[in-house]
Parts: sequence; C-alpha cells; structure tokens
Amino acid sequence: MTVTAHPTTASDAATAAIAMRKVVILGATSGIALEVQRQLARRGCELLLVARSPQRLGEIQADLAIRGAERVLTYAADLASVQQHATIFEFVHQTLPDFDTVLLAYGSMRDQKDSETSVDVLLEELQVNFVSATAILTLFAADLERRGTGCLAAITSVAGDRGRRSNYVYGSAKGALSLFLQGLRSRLHPAGVRVITIKPGPVQTAMTDHLPNAARFANPAEVACDIVCALERRSPDVLYTPRIWRYVMTAVQQIPETIFKRLSF
Ligand SMILES: NC(=O)c1ccc[n+]([C@@H]2O[C@H](COP(=O)([O-])OP(=O)(O)OC[C@H]3O[C@@H](n4cnc5c(N)ncnc54)[C@H](OP(=O)(O)O)[C@@H]3O)[C@@H](O)[C@H]2O)c1
Repeated sequence: MTVTAHPTTASDAATAAIAMRKVVILGATSGIALEVQRQLARRGCELLLVARSPQRLGEIQADLAIRGAERVLTYAADLASVQQHATIFEFVHQTLPDFDTVLLAYGSMRDQKDSETSVDVLLEELQVNFVSATAILTLFAADLERRGTGCLAAITSVAGDRGRRSNYVYGSAKGALSLFLQGLRSRLHPAGVRVITIKPGPVQTAMTDHLPNAARFANPAEVACDIVCALERRSPDVLYTPRIWRYVMTAVQQIPETIFKRLSF
C-alpha cells in the first residue's frame, strides 16, 4: 500500500491548541477506550469507532449516543490485519474526512509462556501490538501531515520501558511502538501534528482481570481522564498514567542489568 504525504512548511502549530471534536478510536471495545469514549461523548464529540465485533460496536454506539455524543459512526474490522487497513482508512476518509484526533487503543497481552513455546503466538503478539499498529498509524499520519493539523495518540505500556523475564514479548512490542511514536512525533512536529505516547501502568480491564492483585490496579475511568486531558493538550508528549508510574519507571530503569536479570518479576 502506498502512502502519500504532502508535508506543509515548518511551523510551531503543534504547540497551539486545537479543538478536539472528531475522534477516531482504533480498538473501541478496549476497557480503557470505553471510558475515554464516554468522556468524549459527554463533551459532545463526534466519534468513529473501529473494532472487531459488530454487535459490541452497536451496543457501544447506542450507549455513547445517550451520553451526549454528537454522532457515533462504527466500522467493524480486524485492526491486527494489515490487509484490512486500506478499507478502514477509506471508510474514515469517506465518513469523517476532517477528523482531528486518532487514538490507537487495541492490544493483546497473552501469557508470556505461550510465546516462549510457540513462535506462532510470539509473532501474533508482535503483529497485534507492533506491526499492525505502526502500519495503521502510518496511514493516519500521512493524512494529518498533509492537512497540517491534528493529534495521533497510541497506548503503549510501562512494560515497554524495560524487558522483564515474565512479560518481555508484550513489553518489547510496546517498547518498539514507543520508539516508533518518538520518531513519528519528531517527523510530524514541523507539520503541526501532535503525537502522544500513552504509557499506563496496570489497569483493571479484561486484559488483566485474571492476574493476581487485579483489584489493586488503576481504575480505567481515572486512566481515561488522564488520556482525555492529554488529548486536550494539558499533558506532555509522553503520558504515564497514573502519574506515579513515571517515577516508578525512572527508578526501574536505573537498576543495573547485573541486578535486574536476577529479579523474578
Ligand atoms: N490493562 C492494562 O493493565 C494495560 C496496561 C498498559 C497498557 N495497556 C494497553 O492498553 C490498551 C487497551 O487495553 P485494555 O486494558 O483496554 O484491554 P482490553 O479491554 O482487553 O481491550 C483490548 C482491545 O484490543 C483488541 N484486541 C485484542 N486482541 C486483538 C487481536 N488479536 N486483533 C485485534 N484486536 C485485538 C480487543 O478487541 P476485542 O474486543 O474484539 O477482543 C479490545 O478492543 C492495549 O494496547 C493494552 O496493551 C493495558
């Protein structure tokens, strides 16, 4: 698939406020995205939701309309399949051509042990969390770059800040995605397009509800509130949420490798 971009001249428009009114959510059935969408609906935004299940999309669409969304469009597709990206993007282009914000929220965290014993599972995890994510972000990036406006945000994870023995496959995909976003941010800055890297700590969603101590994880509504603030430009380029994770991960990154490799978490 060819990506066409027509960069605008350099400007500092990235630092100027833009109204967030028309938002595309990639992975709209995610527990975190659901809360973000509710907060955006209360602000009267127009939403275009992409996820796998048409039935769930219909339910979410009805819920968000009641909560005040100006308009809710849906498109059922498998975001992990790069072959479907062109038709997803075409739908967005036809129905919400002047979208101003994109939030990539889908992701998969399977048991690390499965990736250790099956290369197929390993590759699926990298496909969902990194390969497909960078592919679809590239399509949206070119469009915003051509228009010289907007915001691209993607949920990575604190797991991407350091490779842990129990979670390094998921972590490496998220870490690579964070690096991709860092470069994309630099590329799009002259065009006035903002790129936000969102790094949550553990959050109470379907992804984590089987884990020990899940009840102590962050509330998705609290995390969504931080994300919406970031989308509205009240936050740095890299958002740790809850905020304490910025300090936790700074400390974790300082642990010497000779010690870190002996830690069992
Ligand atoms: N929960 C946490 O502790 C935590 C922490 C840090 C980062 N994150 C990240 O936050 C984002 C949102 O996660 P969440 O906590 O909201 O989890 P979630 O509720 O389990 O949602 C996961 C989302 O990803 C989609 N998805 C999963 N596997 C997929 C696949 N193979 N192909 C296409 N779509 C797939 C799901 O679609 P279906 O509904 O169709 O299954 C769903 O929309 C993810 O990127 C996750 O990695 C989560």
